Amino acid sequence: MRVDLLAGTAYNPVVMPSPVPTILVFDSGLGGLTVFSEVLKARPDARFVYAADDAGFPYGRLSEQTLVARVSTFMERLIELHQPQMVVVACNTASTLVLPHLRARFPLPFVGTVPAIKPAALATKSGKITVLATPGTVARDYTRDLIETYAAGCEVNLVGSRLLAGFAEAELTGAPVSDADLLAELRPCFVEDENGRTDVVTLSCTHYPLLLERMRRLAPWPVTWIDPAPAIARRVIQLIGQPVPGHEADENEVLAVFTEGRGLDSSLRAALREKGLPAIAIEPLPLLQTQ
Ligand code: DGL
Repeated sequence: MRVDLLAGTAYNPVVMPSPVPTILVFDSGLGGLTVFSEVLKARPDARFVYAADDAGFPYGRLSEQTLVARVSTFMERLIELHQPQMVVVACNTASTLVLPHLRARFPLPFVGTVPAIKPAALATKSGKITVLATPGTVARDYTRDLIETYAAGCEVNLVGSRLLAGFAEAELTGAPVSDADLLAELRPCFVEDENGRTDVVTLSCTHYPLLLERMRRLAPWPVTWIDPAPAIARRVIQLIGQPVPGHEADENEVLAVFTEGRGLDSSLRAALREKGLPAIAIEPLPLLQTQ
């Protein structure tokens, strides 16, 4: 692993015993930061590794077989290197497919991120809800099962966006796309007919809350937007408990790992630092040409 440290930080790859857990937060890219922020707020004492498989981004376009193999391989390396007590799979595209494989293979708790269909069905008044996700997530049996189980009485509009996750990355790196481009991706979320109109949009890709402010502003009409990150942080606390009193994490206890690190320019480094991730390492995992 190539460790690329920013000024003033020291990274020790030898895992030392600690009274607090190490929590591994995993995504294909920067979207999982929306979940990481909430989990960090809930367990500010913990050690964190934020792992982004940016060499494989976007996961939404990968075949199911490729995705299972890729996430399992990366996870094995990460678990061996960092020995986390818990893994948060902060990616709907991966969670809706890979979680059973990970749980069967590694003996530690995995918290997943899956489309918030039940909360959306509970929140809607018009009965029209939109699940905004990657093409991978909208195609999953898992997503269809959630709809059948929790939203059978609703009209569910599944929108698989090919571009939004990339737009969210661009936003975070200080190169936002135009309002017109963003609105073009959002339009299919808004359905209106003689029975009413969409009133809930569930953000079922962890990248999308990075664009939430702009989405609210551009929406053709106001809707309830569901960001599942706070619920995921609550689940983490249920499983590993409240912060350890008297222990305060310092910068050495939070590390960002990328499989490629291609976009790591000064503006992304500044954004990561602002989100609580000053130290960065590269753990190469190239995407094979055949994938
Ligand atoms: N952030 C990921 C998700 O929640 C996926 C984005 C992608 O890699 O396509 O689905």
